[in-house]
Formats: sequence, structure tokens, C-alpha cells
Amino acid sequence: MTKQAVLEARTVRLVQITDTHIREEGRLAYRKVDTAAGLRVIIDSVLALRQPPDAVVVTGDLVDFGRPTEYARLRELLAPLAMPVYLMPGNHDDREQLRAAFPEHAWLAPDLWLPDGAAPIQYVVRIGPLHLVTLDTVVPGHAHGELCDMRLDWLEERLAERRGEPVIVAMHHPPFTTLIGHMDKIGLKSGIERLARIVAQHPNVERVICGHLHRAIDVRFGGTIASTCPGPAHQVTLDLDPDAKSSFMMEPPGFRVHAWTPRTGVVTHLAPSGRFEGPYPFHEDGGGLID
Ligand SMILES: [Fe+2]
Repeated sequence: MTKQAVLEARTVRLVQITDTHIREEGRLAYRKVDTAAGLRVIIDSVLALRQPPDAVVVTGDLVDFGRPTEYARLRELLAPLAMPVYLMPGNHDDREQLRAAFPEHAWLAPDLWLPDGAAPIQYVVRIGPLHLVTLDTVVPGHAHGELCDMRLDWLEERLAERRGEPVIVAMHHPPFTTLIGHMDKIGLKSGIERLARIVAQHPNVERVICGHLHRAIDVRFGGTIASTCPGPAHQVTLDLDPDAKSSFMMEPPGFRVHAWTPRTGVVTHLAPSGRFEGPYPFHEDGGGLID
């Protein structure tokens, strides 16, 4: 095997899907959106990628109301994905119903207990040389997110154990201002400054990847890049007004491909959901450009 081939063999591809908001059969989200149909198209798009992903992470709001029947449907919808699928809670989820619906996902088991008895879903999994570290920003019963000291202590310990090794941190609520007024009002309300300090002290954190926003946003954060991802169905309206009212648009859905190689670190692509015409060649067989 050539050196290049060895390096290529170590490439890791992590697909990020987010905010699937699955409802029971026959129910539409917000009486308008067939979220299951959107997820089916995203999964078809992921399965059609030229290089299959090593793993998929779904960064929260897996279902719309945290109900067992919704998680059962999500389970059915995710079944075509043969690679590991890592699930995380968002503000629409219920931690215990999520755990109950995916009992074979051992990484969802409690690893941390808060003083009120709650057990956030925070875990580390290895995808080849890459570590995926998830943070739970959920405040049950509320739309906004928080990161208390205990959750951040846990992160600091996990990162200290992995110094120098590539890490992607995943969380539902992004740790940055989006400028979309109504979403910032239900954004991450605590822990942002300390999270930024922790990330800055660990330059091996390649990305902080998030959901919640139902559109693609990229921001400098703690010396790395923090980003959100489109949803599989509805997108939050692009309205950069502090008084923007809560609304969504049926803009094109999509997903992210976070590809890591030892030479490049993480390279993130934004992919539209669906099947499209092509590929068409740029060149004639003889090498000339087609005008
Ligand atoms: Fe959402």
C-alpha cells in the first residue's frame, strides 16, 4: 500500500442530519410539513453519496413531541442506514423516551447526573481516528438551551483525555448569536463563555457542530469553526432582524458532510437533499473544454 493509500484509508466521513422533527404517521409538523418524507429523501441522498459515510450524527429535535410513537417511527425511518447512527436530544425531545426507543445504542446510557436527578445524554464515540463528543444543551420543558458547569466539567475531562487527537463536538443549541431574533431568544442561555475557553484550550477540536436553526450558519468560535445545518424538511426563515417573528420556509433542505483526513483536518461540505441531473463531464474525451 502506498503512503497516499494508507492516508486515504484513514479518511473519516461523518454525515450530519439535524432537526428531523418526526411525528406519528398521518401527522404533519405545524399542520404543514411532512417531516418523515423529508427524512426519507435525505436518507436516500446519503445512501447515494459516492463515498458512503462511516457514521451519521443527528443533532437533536429528532421527534416533535418526545412521544414513544414518534421515536418508533423515527427508528423505522432510520433503518436503511447501515452505518452507526448517533442520536442526540434537542428541545423537542425527551431523553428517557429516546433512550427507551434505542436500547441497543449503549452510548446513550447516563454518564452524568445533575443535582435534580436528570441524566443528560453526553457521550464520546470513536469513528476511526476521529472522536465525536456530544453535549446535551436541553432544559426539559423549555425551548432554550443551557450548559451548566457539570456538563462542561464533563467535556473538559473528555477533551483532556484526547489531547492531540481530532475531535468534533456536537450539540443541539449553537453557542453563538445567529442574528435571527426569535431563534436567539431561544438560543443557548448559559455556558457559552466557558465553552469557548475550553475549546480554545483544545486546538484538536476541529468543529463545533449544531442543530436548532434549520439552516446553515458558520461562525468563528473558541478558535475553531462552529456551524449549524439545514433541516431535512422546513428551514427557519432568513430574517436577520432582532424582532424577527417565528416562521419557517420550505426552502431546499440539506445536510452536512464533515470529512476528516490526517493531512487536511475536517473539511465540511453542505449538500442539498435530493437526486439531481448529472454528473456531466467538463471536458471532451480528448481533454478539451466543452464550450
Ligand atoms: Fe428544530
